Amino acid sequence: MNLPAFEDFDPLYDEAALAARIKSLGEEISRDVANDSENLVLVCVLKGAMVFMADLMRHLPTSVTCDFLRLSSYSGTKSTGRVRFDFDLTQPIKGKDVLIVEDIVDTGRSMHFLLKALEAREPKSLSICTLLDKPGRRVKQVPIRYTGFSIEDRFVIGYGLDLEGRYRNLPYIAALRPEIEAALGGKSSEDAIEE
Ligand code: IMP
Ligand code: MG
Repeated sequence: MNLPAFEDFDPLYDEAALAARIKSLGEEISRDVANDSENLVLVCVLKGAMVFMADLMRHLPTSVTCDFLRLSSYSGTKSTGRVRFDFDLTQPIKGKDVLIVEDIVDTGRSMHFLLKALEAREPKSLSICTLLDKPGRRVKQVPIRYTGFSIEDRFVIGYGLDLEGRYRNLPYIAALRPEIEAALGGKSSEDAIEE
């Protein structure tokens, strides 16, 4: 597939808008964990959330720790919508305050799976912080504690989010123009959980 050109995207959130929102999310989380911040573990859902996590954690108390996991969904060549761990956390989370850091909640399938999987490990608390939320696409309802921006149903790239593995290193977020999205015949992210 020929990757879309920059003129095929509409800028959505520039660097300044992202920095301001993430700073205020960080302040909100810091206030919420003020009494027990050393118990907080940030769980980054790779690859999409890596840029967001790196910026967010620099607004949190230095006592927080972090860990990483990656999810995927398929069996054989056809996606089943079933999610599994590609790789898992390196540390136990029993008794910890776990904050999942995600790039975007779309159908909700990945976060639904992850909440169930991590709940079984008996954390003290478990919540989700997502940079972007597309509530119009939800198939599985999931509780979201912190949201950066709620957006309409458009395919977005940049600041960690990809189209076929590309554009993650754009410093801003842009949306694929609807006519280009239609011409591509469906959206495809390396991290996407197919329906
Ligand atoms: P889910 O449908 O909520 O399970 O989302 C699965 C994953 O798909 C998200 O964590 C993202 O990594 C990816 N994804 C969903 N929507 C987009 C998008 O608009 N651009 C890039 N990746 C996306
Ligand atoms: Mg993701």
